[in-house]
Amino acid sequence: MRNSLKHLKRTTAAGAIALAAFSLQPGAASAAPAPDPGGSVHTDVVGGTRAAQGEFPFMVRLSMGCGGALYTKDIVLTAAHCVDRSGPDTSITATAGVVDLQDSAAVKVNSTQVLQAPGYSGKGKDWALIKLAKPIDRPTLKIAEDDRLTNGDFTIAGWGADKEGGDQQRYLLKATVPFIDDATCRKAYGDALTPGEEICAGKLDTGGTDTCQGDSGGPMFRKDDAGQWLQVGIVSWGEGCARPGKPGVYSEVSAFAANIKKAAAELGG
Ligand code: ARG
Repeated sequence: MRNSLKHLKRTTAAGAIALAAFSLQPGAASAAPAPDPGGSVHTDVVGGTRAAQGEFPFMVRLSMGCGGALYTKDIVLTAAHCVDRSGPDTSITATAGVVDLQDSAAVKVNSTQVLQAPGYSGKGKDWALIKLAKPIDRPTLKIAEDDRLTNGDFTIAGWGADKEGGDQQRYLLKATVPFIDDATCRKAYGDALTPGEEICAGKLDTGGTDTCQGDSGGPMFRKDDAGQWLQVGIVSWGEGCARPGKPGVYSEVSAFAANIKKAAAELGG
C-alpha cells in the first residue's frame, strides 16, 4: 500500500499493476453477483451499504459499465472517460429507476448522442453528456454552480466494484466520504491531480471507503441549504480503491457548470 509508483514501476509486471491502479477504464458491464443471503450488513461501493429503492432516484447505470446522474430527464451527466468521443451514438443503454439492475421495473432507454467534454485529453475535464432517446420520468440531480458546498461529507453511490479488482454489483451501494482539500490531495497524487478541475474525497488515514471501477461517471453529492441533493463531483479516478493515503478523485462539477449547461443546450436539453 505504501509503495510509491516509482517502486511499483521497477518491474514490468508491477508496472502493469501501477497502470491498472491509475486506470480510468470503466468496469466491465458483466453479470452481477447473486445477492447476499441473510441479513448481514453488506459492505460495498467499497465500504458502503445498500441504497434503498427510491433513495437516489437520479442514479443511472450505463451499459458500458459506468454510472451517471439525470441532469435533465433526457440527458445523463457522466465521465468523459466513459465515452469515446462526441457525436451520434445509439449504442449506450441507460438503466434507471431501480436499485436492483435485474428488477423488471427498471426503465431502460438508449442513447442518441454523446458529448464528451471539449478539450478532454485524459487529465481533468472528465465529464460528458449522454442524450437519451426519450425522457425518464424521475427526479433530476441539480449540479453545483459554485464551490460554496464543496466541503463536509459527500455521498457516493454506484454499481461498481466492492473492492479493488472486485465484481460489478447488482444492487446500488452507497457510502459517505469526507472532502479533502487540494493541498492535502496533492501530497497523495502530485501533478496527476488537476486542482481547480478535480476534488478529492475519502478517509485519508484509514482508507476503507471509496468509489471503485465501474462507479466512474456517477455522482458525488450532498444536501444543499434547502435540503435538496446537489451534485458536487463525478467519479473519475484513484490509485487503487479505498487505500489509506489514496483518496478518490472526482471532477469538480462547479468548475464545469457553465460548460455543462451550454453543452446540454446544444443537445436540445
Ligand atoms: N476510473 C474508475 C471507473 O472507470 C473509477 C475509479 C475510482 N477510483 C477510486 N479510487 N475512487 O469506474
